[in-house]
Amino acid sequence: MLASCNLLFRESMQWVTAVGKRGTRVRQTTRLGPTRIGAVATDFVRRNVWTLEAAGPWHPTLLAYASAITVMSQLPDADPRSLAYQAAVHGNVVADEFLDQCQHQGWYFLPWHRMYLYWFEDIVRTIVAGLDGVDDQTRAEWALPYWDYGGAAETRAIPPTFLAATLPDGTPNPLRVPRQLDVGDRLDGTDVDTGAALRSDRFAGIGGFGGARTGHNHFAEDPDARAGTLEMTPHNTVHSTVGGLLGQFETAGLDPLFWLHHANIDRLWEVWAVTMGHANPNEPAWLTGQTFRFRDGTGAERAQQPADVTTTLTQLHYEYEDISGPPATPGEDVPRSRRPTELIGATDESMALTGESASSAFDVAPPTRRSPGRVFLTVDDATASEMSAMTYRVYLTVPDDDPATTDEFLVGTASFFGADRSGAALRLAFDVTDVFTRLRADERWTDRVSVTFVPNWIAGGQSTGERLPQQPGEVRVGRVGIVVE
Ligand code: C2O
Repeated sequence: MLASCNLLFRESMQWVTAVGKRGTRVRQTTRLGPTRIGAVATDFVRRNVWTLEAAGPWHPTLLAYASAITVMSQLPDADPRSLAYQAAVHGNVVADEFLDQCQHQGWYFLPWHRMYLYWFEDIVRTIVAGLDGVDDQTRAEWALPYWDYGGAAETRAIPPTFLAATLPDGTPNPLRVPRQLDVGDRLDGTDVDTGAALRSDRFAGIGGFGGARTGHNHFAEDPDARAGTLEMTPHNTVHSTVGGLLGQFETAGLDPLFWLHHANIDRLWEVWAVTMGHANPNEPAWLTGQTFRFRDGTGAERAQQPADVTTTLTQLHYEYEDISGPPATPGEDVPRSRRPTELIGATDESMALTGESASSAFDVAPPTRRSPGRVFLTVDDATASEMSAMTYRVYLTVPDDDPATTDEFLVGTASFFGADRSGAALRLAFDVTDVFTRLRADERWTDRVSVTFVPNWIAGGQSTGERLPQQPGEVRVGRVGIVVE
């Protein structure tokens, strides 16, 4: 039994390698996209959901998605193409080697979710191709849209198609599921602020775009696990604030909006790497050190490594409608070496976050290094007894200003997505070099600092009567500290 499983796995690996090498041709024989002519295959285009919404209610791409979700919801849970199975791939305690795999708090977060999305999209596209009543163009071109919540304030609302009670034929809309963010609500601006992420000039390590260097890390197995800047915001923050199914690992994939949220995270990676010209890791440990396994639209096994999904998106035959972003910042010589970090101060007691503002002050020593590099505020070993679907603005101040919660001292937004998992130890890091440098220049950086968490309530906490109540949960932050590089 085991031997035959292994054999199957090896065969599928070889097959994937073959596809990787001859990708375009192989895909062309199985996918007849309208623009894939000759040797150069043009990609499937993942569109901004707001472009689709602007065309009027129920764009064919979204209607086809809703129909596919209905089909997937009706498949038996054990069918790899079912929505239940797909959600369980992300996080479930069911024992199947394909399930409960999602990579968080480390440098596999981005490549793993890119693969996960890619095979989910393959499943949806396969189902759409077999649906009645879908036009040929949609059938041939279907690609997962992305939810870009980083535009005007209106883009921070749930797209209307995901809020509509019914489909055009009057039946219940499968894209609408219970959420705490509902009609008339918006994400807080700080929940979607990509500034810190896009300013990260390295991929791996503390303060890096893509997360800490870890081994296979579902959540906190690796002692070095720590979320990267993109995972923190807007990834975790959007999970928390949308709440409901999206607020928990185990159920997130059941909200059809999950996949559009992750398409946007994947797109932001492309903005960072391609538009802004930053480098993905070139370390073999990352490129080929881990193999991740999925099921495709036919239910067949697929295996990929980060190297298979990070050369260019062209190798995967998709692209995004828009990857514009801040201009490239070439020329900066970014040290990729791992400079040892020094903890110069930390709280000695844990802190409770239960939906109220909370502060904690602690002593800091001057850095021993004469020219300290980056300075980080670390939030370590956060756990929660139940889902925490709330985000907190985080402020770093000195005692004189206490409690100063003005933008001058805002260092970022914290979400505790996943902290309710058993064995959780959520670790975050905020780059506070600016605040540190400013305070130091003014000679106000003292031997004591204080950190304040201020909850973000949706629309001031006024319930529309439809949405789920916002759930602060019971978060316990093990330690808050200042780390100097
Ligand atoms: Cu693995 Cu957005 O989660």
